[in-house]
Amino acid sequence: MRVLSGIQPTGRFHWGNYFGAIHQYIALQNNEQAFYFIADLHALTTVREPDKLREYVRDAAIDLLALGLDPAQATLFVQSDVPEVTELTWLLMTITQMHLLEKCHAYKDKKARGIAADAGLFTYPVLMAADIILYDSDLVPVGNDQIQHIEVTRDLGQRFNHLYDTEVFVLPNAHVLDQTAKVPGTDGEKMSKSYNNTIEIFLPEKQLKKKINSIKTDSLAVEDPKNPETCPVFALYKLFATPEQQEELAGRYRAGGMGYGEAKKLVLDAALEFFGPARERRARLEADSDYVQDVLRQGANTARQKGREVLDRARQASGLTRTPADGIDG
Ligand code: TYM
Repeated sequence: MRVLSGIQPTGRFHWGNYFGAIHQYIALQNNEQAFYFIADLHALTTVREPDKLREYVRDAAIDLLALGLDPAQATLFVQSDVPEVTELTWLLMTITQMHLLEKCHAYKDKKARGIAADAGLFTYPVLMAADIILYDSDLVPVGNDQIQHIEVTRDLGQRFNHLYDTEVFVLPNAHVLDQTAKVPGTDGEKMSKSYNNTIEIFLPEKQLKKKINSIKTDSLAVEDPKNPETCPVFALYKLFATPEQQEELAGRYRAGGMGYGEAKKLVLDAALEFFGPARERRARLEADSDYVQDVLRQGANTARQKGREVLDRARQASGLTRTPADGIDG
């Protein structure tokens, strides 16, 4: 069973990325068929500074390794290191109906906000479908916001199979964890860079404290009873706490006599403890860029081998391959 997922290097990873996706990557990596990649081609639709993009890709690789992605078990690579994905994107593009893309949320949201979308953003879901299909992926661990894209992937895979009367593509399923499908940000909305409400995993302690202190709360006084269910501080605490710890804090909320400052301190302590070991690993990896480059190089080789195989099948099915021995490899 192939597990595959991608993450965009558009800045530093935040708690939404970790609890919605990265945590699952690590939990699912030990079947030796896991492929995880840094989606730099997708990031090009928003990052237009080459040095920044390089920095984000490097940071993304280090972050993933520090958080527990193990290259001895899973394959980690950079999307653009496997150029086969762009060829498959074109094959899929030729069978993609416009209306399918018109309803996709990234494009729709931009359009609704009056921002001109380019063809890259509009066709973003087709590249994502190619990412998944290129490696015969069965299971795609993601947060809620990506489910629509996995559905598009299934649609396109199915349509290609149907049009060419083959079973050439595997149809994937999304893998979403109920509790963390949509991690809230500091304002209670979905945590997202575009909402400016993120808490980055590896912020220095002082900045982390500042971010956590900025989590929105109501103006109830310390002595007032409070509702844990509607409080973003509590929602974030839940990410780190055991059910017993959650129950205990919920009890203190309801009883009154506890200020939000105290709850925020609990979130800070829990986050520092939870990500402490990863922070230490990150510092070591930061100093070993040869190792990180090596992991990405080997990852690209492994991914490319598989990608080539699936692309060859697609070329054959669609009539691009003229004879079995055709192609640049002879
Ligand atoms: P991206 O880079 O926006 O996010 C990476 C992963 O983090 C999850 N996520 C969240 N989960 C829960 N709560 C949140 N607040 C939250 N914020 C982010 C996302 O659901 C995602 O799983 N299009 C993809 C990248 C991609 C991809 C792929 C994914 C490209 N090709 C192929 C899977 C398979 C994206 O923009 O994710």
